[in-house]
Amino acid sequence: MADIDGASETKQFHPDVPAAHEGFPLKGAHQLDWGMRNRLSRVFRPSTGRTVMLAIDHGYFLGPTTGLERVDLSIVPILPHADALMCTRGILRSSIPSTCGAGVVVRASGGPSTLKELSNERLALDIDDALRMNASAMAVQVYIGGEHETQSVKNMTTLVDLGLRYGVPTMGVTAVGKQLTRDARYLGLATRICAELGAQVVKTYYCDRGFEQVTAGCPVPIVMAGGKKLPELEALTMAHHAVSQGAAGVDMGRNIFQSAAPAAMIQAVGKVVHELMPPKQAYELYRTLAHEHAAAAR
Ligand code: R5P
Repeated sequence: MADIDGASETKQFHPDVPAAHEGFPLKGAHQLDWGMRNRLSRVFRPSTGRTVMLAIDHGYFLGPTTGLERVDLSIVPILPHADALMCTRGILRSSIPSTCGAGVVVRASGGPSTLKELSNERLALDIDDALRMNASAMAVQVYIGGEHETQSVKNMTTLVDLGLRYGVPTMGVTAVGKQLTRDARYLGLATRICAELGAQVVKTYYCDRGFEQVTAGCPVPIVMAGGKKLPELEALTMAHHAVSQGAAGVDMGRNIFQSAAPAAMIQAVGKVVHELMPPKQAYELYRTLAHEHAAAAR
């Protein structure tokens, strides 16, 4: 028999206190199921509704990309500064400690290498495996205007259906082919299509003109892709522009792991994303931290 000796008869129903109904900090997510919102909370920091997602999935079509040759040496030490990690399941299982506290956004599409037509992707992950890895979200490339546009959209909608069944969010990644212009008109089209067809998060590039319209026209959070390596001040400025203009953070790869001081850079990006630190101040922070890290390593 259960031990009920001493159980108090006093009840504390507080009928005068309305039940709490907390809001949710992410755009478009307030009607999602609890499990999906809980997973999104492991990607986007609840206190700011933004994320510093570290993208290291490049090897799925590029092989051993500069800066990612040894993920155990270059990436694992900086993981404590990331809110989330975007990677393939191969790197996750082989090189990322299971004690890692960051949310994991697992790459779920693939197929062609950089030697072939990149838009010819298929889904490359079972939802069972995403659940087994305790993934916080799944990422799929969408090639609007690309040769295999419809197939890539179908990849995304299939993943969205599976994710909805089990409470795993899908991030649509707008992939821009060499022949397409990364302007607000194109990015607005691509991001809106991803959201309309069910992606709970969309990743896209920044554009100098009209990015505010891209984020405003997308009913779910947009995270900014970093793109090719830029000087650190430029990359911090771009991140600042993006979050000031409505992005819910960044999903940045080369501008962090190809930086001369990746640990300093990811911390500076974090200040920009979560505190809107002005870019020049964030760059000074980057330089200070880089010197400190170099001195400590000597
Ligand atoms: C590319 O398709 C991959 O998904 C990368 O994660 C993405 O390009 C972001 O990395 P980066 O900031 O280096 O562009």
